[in-house]
Amino acid sequence: MVITLGRKEHEHQYISKKRFVMHMNGEGIGFGKTILFNEHFVVYGIPAIVSAIGKYTIAKIKPAETNGIDLVDNRDATPRYKQDKKEQQQDSLQRIITKMNLDFSNKGIQIELGGSLYAASGIGASAASCVAIARALSEYYGLGLTDEQINEIAFEGEKGYHGTPSGIDNTASTFGGLIWFQKDQPTIMERISLNNPVEIVIGNTGKVADTTAAVAGVRERREQNPEKYQGIFNRAENIAYLAKRAFADEDIHEIGKLMNENHKLLQQIEVSSKELDFMVKLARDAGAYGAKLTGGGLGGNMIALTPGKNLQEEVVTSLEKEGFQTLKTRIGVTRGGSIE
Ligand code: MEV
Repeated sequence: MVITLGRKEHEHQYISKKRFVMHMNGEGIGFGKTILFNEHFVVYGIPAIVSAIGKYTIAKIKPAETNGIDLVDNRDATPRYKQDKKEQQQDSLQRIITKMNLDFSNKGIQIELGGSLYAASGIGASAASCVAIARALSEYYGLGLTDEQINEIAFEGEKGYHGTPSGIDNTASTFGGLIWFQKDQPTIMERISLNNPVEIVIGNTGKVADTTAAVAGVRERREQNPEKYQGIFNRAENIAYLAKRAFADEDIHEIGKLMNENHKLLQQIEVSSKELDFMVKLARDAGAYGAKLTGGGLGGNMIALTPGKNLQEEVVTSLEKEGFQTLKTRIGVTRGGSIE
């Protein structure tokens, strides 16, 4: 079943009534995201569950004096993130421009990145910037692109950062909310609705990770150990369907248990790290219903399921005591794309 996601209330902000008219300014946003189930496995067509988070990147465009694109990155970021990702960011921007068939050789622009999402590995910073830039360009040139078109452009941009992205990050970043995602022909997206949004904590190891390298590592090890990996992949698929059922039943304990099991599988495919494992343990010891790495792994971020503001606070305190940066948000906030 393929569900085309409907337009959001916020969409009118990005669609110009006048077509192909250059505006004085353009602005667009992309949500951050956290993967609750099956990062990495999703690259091979296994279903995954992702949520947008209540933080986002904003891209603002204005005309520049010189030709070409002047990218000013004012996002708060994990130390080294911007330096480490500079080349990938340039590659990504070039892919977006090519996909949109734009030419800046006669008239340049400045793109400024900002917003409430800090730039770090694992929380969709690259996807959020691609979506924000595509939306800002659409507004600046009065192209009136739909969310589906923005998503396609951002997917191209993500290739600069991920090599062979599954499309899960740009999808969450474009549409917001809680989503069941399966890379297929065509891609399957379904909204998951929760009557009661659930608190989560995202914790940052402070380590910048390279998603392309993490994905390539899994591919290599999978080719070397096909039987071992087949077993792990089968269980990951199983977990996705069990999690879907648990969401339908709003069985938060079960969702937490499955997240813990998912983390084990991610350890087995060697994308966790000692910092991630330590944070996962801290979160569980503080009472989190479940905790796992989120995103590409090898550093980056972890997610803990912490229903209720009190538990959320306890987990935050325990992580921050050890010097980790945290972010509090909720999953299951579908209207307005998870913005609280
Ligand atoms: C990165 O946020 C998620 C990965 O599964 C890569 C992808 O799906 O493109 C590791």
